[in-house]
Amino acid sequence: MMEHNLLLDAWKEGKAIGAFNANTYDDMEAIVQAAAELGRPVILMASMSCCKFMGIDTFVMFAKHLEKKYGTPVITHLDHCIDPELLYKCVDAGFDYVMFDGSNRSFEENCQMTAQIVRDCHEKGVFVEGELGVISGTEGPLKSDTGVFTDPQQMKEFIARTDLDTLAVSIGNQHGFYKGEPKLNFELLEVLAKESSIPLVLHGGTGIPVEDIARAVSMGICKVNVGTDIRATYLRTVSEYGKNWDGKNDIRGYITCLRDEIKKVAKYYMVSYS
Ligand code: G3H
Ligand code: ZN
Repeated sequence: MMEHNLLLDAWKEGKAIGAFNANTYDDMEAIVQAAAELGRPVILMASMSCCKFMGIDTFVMFAKHLEKKYGTPVITHLDHCIDPELLYKCVDAGFDYVMFDGSNRSFEENCQMTAQIVRDCHEKGVFVEGELGVISGTEGPLKSDTGVFTDPQQMKEFIARTDLDTLAVSIGNQHGFYKGEPKLNFELLEVLAKESSIPLVLHGGTGIPVEDIARAVSMGICKVNVGTDIRATYLRTVSEYGKNWDGKNDIRGYITCLRDEIKKVAKYYMVSYS
């Protein structure tokens, strides 16, 4: 179970915890190594498709093993889940923290479903993240060409009615590589952070200048999600390694390379808000 106050502690100190999407043991290990070297906790996120690919028990088992091996807190998180059945399976499997993403539903339905999920999860000591507004780009089963900013009034009502632990906001952030310069709406973030009684979450971390991430964190963001950069680094490294393959059958060479590159990327983001 999650060390309960890690996110709140980070929030109160004007810091954040890095949250990274992982899909294999190797990227999980690289991310945890990066966190351990910086002396920080870390959140390992499984998407719905990662859950199906790796298996939820395996994900939890790897994460717990890595926490022990590297001696730094590792929080397991289910990312952008739109399926309550899968979400409850993850809770039963030992996830610390789950996201129910009702952003494609009506405000009313999002409120009601999130509130029920929060009640059920809190009984088991599991944290819940929700989302309000629409973050553009593609993330798992959700795809949107245009974003919709989080509305401050709706946000206050959403938090009051659901009692959730953290909220993903839409402030100009996008999923995937940005087309053009990423431009966060700091004026809106300032209002949201002022009106919110809970920590906020920044999705679509890939490609946002680290100075902007640091500024957002200092304003009330407690968790920064990065996925695309991890996957792109994984694939680029494997592909480069393949091009220069010396013909020897040493599979550990590419895994070492892969871990080093992913570790660099995870650290690049984490140092900006540690
Ligand atoms: O939930 C996952 C993140 O928001 C990842 O966003 O792939 O653009 O880094 P990203
Ligand atoms: Zn996201």
